[in-house]
Amino acid sequence: MFKGQKVSFSGVQPSGNLTIGNYLGAIRNFKEYSEQYKTFYCVVDEHAITVRQVPADLRRRTYETLALYMACGLDPERNTLYVQSMVHEHAELAWILNCFTMFGELSRMTQFKDKSARHADNINAGLFTYPTLMAADILLYQTDVVPVGVDQVQHVELCRDIANRFNQIHPDTFTVPEAVLPKNGKKIMSLSEPEKKMSKSDENPNAVVYILDDRDTIIRKFKRAVTDSESEVRFAPDEKPGVSNLITIYSCFTGKTIEETEREFAGRGYGDFKLAVGEATADALAPVQTRYREFLADRAMLESQMKKGAMEATCYARDTLARVKKKLGFVQVR
Ligand code: TYM
Repeated sequence: MFKGQKVSFSGVQPSGNLTIGNYLGAIRNFKEYSEQYKTFYCVVDEHAITVRQVPADLRRRTYETLALYMACGLDPERNTLYVQSMVHEHAELAWILNCFTMFGELSRMTQFKDKSARHADNINAGLFTYPTLMAADILLYQTDVVPVGVDQVQHVELCRDIANRFNQIHPDTFTVPEAVLPKNGKKIMSLSEPEKKMSKSDENPNAVVYILDDRDTIIRKFKRAVTDSESEVRFAPDEKPGVSNLITIYSCFTGKTIEETEREFAGRGYGDFKLAVGEATADALAPVQTRYREFLADRAMLESQMKKGAMEATCYARDTLARVKKKLGFVQVR
């Protein structure tokens, strides 16, 4: 589709304020592919409605997420940045892929099990078939790599299974994609319960550092982070999950290795270390926050990017969908 050029695709749900987990596990790594790959980065608003959303909040967060993509260095001239619901091919291919996905496969998805436990009053069919919409997102663009955090790997694996199954019946339809994880930061943990993933839907704001938190808030949250009863800054995720998570965050934001970080804080207490993690995080996020505010203030620019991105994405998505429909035997009379 892209004359030998590889494709990177990923998405983020505008379902809450984005966290440093979203940033370090995913968004920060999107840019890495901008130079050599054809890249598609999507604000996946259709995924967000699997859980009830306040419409005005969903709309606002959609703009915010696009502004944040750009603030994180994604240039819309080099990357196709767009909103999922503006490209109807996603929902259409998702239906088709539903017919190539097994009930048992979807039942095994850990995110479905977690979310249905958390939203027991609204276990809708969309929550269940969410991974087929995600597969449609990825497969529409003949994607090679999907930069994500570790919690999305199971969904990308299922997408591979769906693609392989479809290709077996209808050869040479989809490129089979691969999840790519950052070396460091693939799973940032909660600051108050470090055995749990940091999540934008966490109800405890102290557990989560948001990309847009101000400097004082960031430092305060790290000061309160749960650690352990020792005082040694040592990376041992099973034994010392809290401290190890802080080491990972520090290392991601400063570019220092885990070993360098351990050496730097040898013989110093947790107080010093937590302050340093807070300062490093705030320093690294400050330029992103400044650019974000500029982009968000220019609504007309964001809307014109949304239109441009949707038009670009549609050109590619339409092509794949037409091929799929033809292979399935759908009549296409124009
Ligand atoms: P979402 O919106 O939950 O998260 C967006 C991205 O952030 C990563 N992430 C994390 N990484 C490290 N540590 C954390 N604590 C952390 N929390 C979140 C996620 O792994 C993800 O990469 N279903 C997806 C969105 C999606 C998508 C796609 C992704 C829809 N279609 C197609 C890739 C390709 C989701 O809910 O991500």
